[in-house]
Amino acid sequence: MKSLTANELRKLFIDFFVSKGHVQISGASVIPENDPTVLFTTAGMHPLVPYLLGQEHPAGNRLTDYQKCIRTGDIDSVGDPHHLTCFEMLGNWSLGDYFKKEMIPWSYEFLTKVLEIPAEKLSVTVFEGEEGIPRDTESAELWHSMGIPYERIYFMPREDNWWGPAGETGPCGPDTEMFIDTGRPACGPDCKPGCSCGKYFEVWNDVLMGYRKTKEGQYVEMDRKCIDTGMGIERTIAILQGKKSVYDTEVMQPILKVIGELAGTNYHDDEEKDVSMRIIADHIRTSTFILGDQRGVSPSNVGQGYILRRLIRRAVRHGKKLGIQGSFLAKVAQVVIQLYGEPYPELRDNEQKVYDELTAEEEKFSLTLEKGEKQFEKMTFFLEKQGVREISGGSAFKLYDTYGFPIELTKELAEEKGFTVDEKGFEEAFAKHQELSRTAEAGQFKSGLGDHSEQTTALHTATHLLHAALRKVLGTHVQQKGSNITPERLRFDFSHAEKMTPEQIREVEDLVNKAISDDLKVTCETMSPAEAVEKGAVAFFSSKYGEQVTVYTVGDFSKEVCAGPHVEHTGDMGHFHILKEESSSAGVRRIKAVLEK
Ligand code: SER
Repeated sequence: MKSLTANELRKLFIDFFVSKGHVQISGASVIPENDPTVLFTTAGMHPLVPYLLGQEHPAGNRLTDYQKCIRTGDIDSVGDPHHLTCFEMLGNWSLGDYFKKEMIPWSYEFLTKVLEIPAEKLSVTVFEGEEGIPRDTESAELWHSMGIPYERIYFMPREDNWWGPAGETGPCGPDTEMFIDTGRPACGPDCKPGCSCGKYFEVWNDVLMGYRKTKEGQYVEMDRKCIDTGMGIERTIAILQGKKSVYDTEVMQPILKVIGELAGTNYHDDEEKDVSMRIIADHIRTSTFILGDQRGVSPSNVGQGYILRRLIRRAVRHGKKLGIQGSFLAKVAQVVIQLYGEPYPELRDNEQKVYDELTAEEEKFSLTLEKGEKQFEKMTFFLEKQGVREISGGSAFKLYDTYGFPIELTKELAEEKGFTVDEKGFEEAFAKHQELSRTAEAGQFKSGLGDHSEQTTALHTATHLLHAALRKVLGTHVQQKGSNITPERLRFDFSHAEKMTPEQIREVEDLVNKAISDDLKVTCETMSPAEAVEKGAVAFFSSKYGEQVTVYTVGDFSKEVCAGPHVEHTGDMGHFHILKEESSSAGVRRIKAVLEK
C-alpha cells in the first residue's frame, strides 16, 4: 500500500478521474442551500442532488471533487479514537453517463494500481436484492472478472448495501462497497466485511444510483442511471499509513500537539486526557469549518448554530478539564486553518471571523461554566447521599437555563459520575418554562398573540393552517414575516413578491377550510431544534427559541416550531375567510382573515 498524506490522496484521486474524462468541480458549502431536510452537507453527492435527478450540470456529466462534510449523528461518540464530526469526502459522478461496467474496473484500478493495495487484501459487498429490486449479480460478475474470487464477494441486504437518500426523499440505490482486510484475526465464524470488530476496513463506496425515493416512501426506478462514489480521506490515509486511528495522522497530529502544549501534556501520555484532547481537536476543527464556511453561521440556539454552540461549549469544558487557562480555542483554530487553508481558501478569507466568534462564545460560556459545575457537584453530592442516581428534569433545566449547559453536556457530566438524567422531565420543565414566559409576556407578541382566549387560540391555529396552505399554493419560498392576532381577526405577513390572484386566495381558503372540516388532531412535542428541522417543521423566528423547541403538528397538514397555545382539534374552529390581501412592504404581503362561526 502506498503511504499517502491527505494532500497526496486528494490530488491522486482527482487526477485519476480527470484522466477518465471527468471535470473537477468545487466542493460546496457545508451549510446546504435550499435543503431543509438536513442541517449540514453530509456527502459529496448532496449538493449534486438536482443533477442526479436530471437537471443538466454546466460542467458536463462526468464530475469529480472533494467535499467537506459534517455528520452530527454521533457527536457524543467523539472522544474515542475513531469518530469525527467533520471529514473530507472524495467523489466521482456519472450523471446518466457511464454505469457499473466502467465504474467497477476503475475502482479496482484505482485501489490496486494507484493506491497499490494488494488485490488479495480486497473484499467487496454487493446488494442481495429484495422484493421489487433485483439481486446485483452484474456487479458481482464484474468484480469477479477483475480477479476478486467469489468467496470475497459478499451479497448483503439493504441495511448494508443500500445508500440514500441523503434526506427524506431523493436519489438512492444499491451500492457496492470495497473493504481492506487489516490482517487482524476474525472475531468469529460470521466475521465478514461490515463486521463491527474492525477486521475489515471500508475504503470506498460506489452507489449505483438507479432509484428515487418519493415522499410516500416508494422507490421509483430512474431511466437515467447515475453513479455516486465516496471515499473518506481521513480514514483512508490512516489505513494507508498503517495508523490505528485518524487521530494519529498528519491532519490531526498538529492540532493535538497545540492542545498538548496548552495543557502541558502530550497526546498518548494519559488515556483520560487523550479523550478530552480528541474532543477538542475534533470539535474545534468542525467549528472552524462551520464558522469559516462561505455560508458560515454563528453560534445560536437553533439549527446549525445550535450544533456549533454544542461543539464549542463541549470543547471549552474539556479544555477546562485539561487545566487550560484562559481563552484557547482561537489558537487551536489557527492550526486548523494552517492545515486546510489551501484546499479550502474560504477558511483564510474568514479567518478573523472564526477567531472572533470562537472567542466570544468561549468567553460567554466560561463565565457560567464554573458556577454551573459547582451547582452540578452540589446536586450530585446531595443525591448521592440519598442514594439517588438520577438528575431530575428540573435540575437539568436549571443547569440549562441559568448556566447555559446544553442538555447533552449535562448528560455527559452525569455519565462521567455514574448518574442518569431524567430527559423527559427536562422536556417537561422546558415546556412549562415556555408556558410561564408566555404568560408573563401576555400582551406582548410572543407568537404574535395578545391574549389566550378561545377565539385567539383558534385564530392562532388558523395562522398555522394559513401558513401551510400558502406554502402549498404559492411555494415554499413563503415564510412568515410577522403575525398579530386580536380576538376578532388574524393578520399574517409573509414573503411573496406578487399580489395573489383571486383564484389563489380561494384555493388557500379552501385548503384551510378542508383542514378544519377534516377535524385534524393537533399534537405538541418538545425536541431539539435540529430534530425539529429534521422532521420537517417550519421554523423561522430563530432568535426567539430556546435550546429545545416545541413543535405543533396539525394532522398531516402543518408542522411548525411554536410556543402555542393551539386548539386540540380543528373541527369547531369555524369557517375561514380571507378579508384582505395587500402589500405590507417590499417583497412582503399581508393577509387579514377571520373565523366565522
Ligand atoms: N453518497 C455515498 C456515501 O456517502 C457515496 O458518496 O457514502
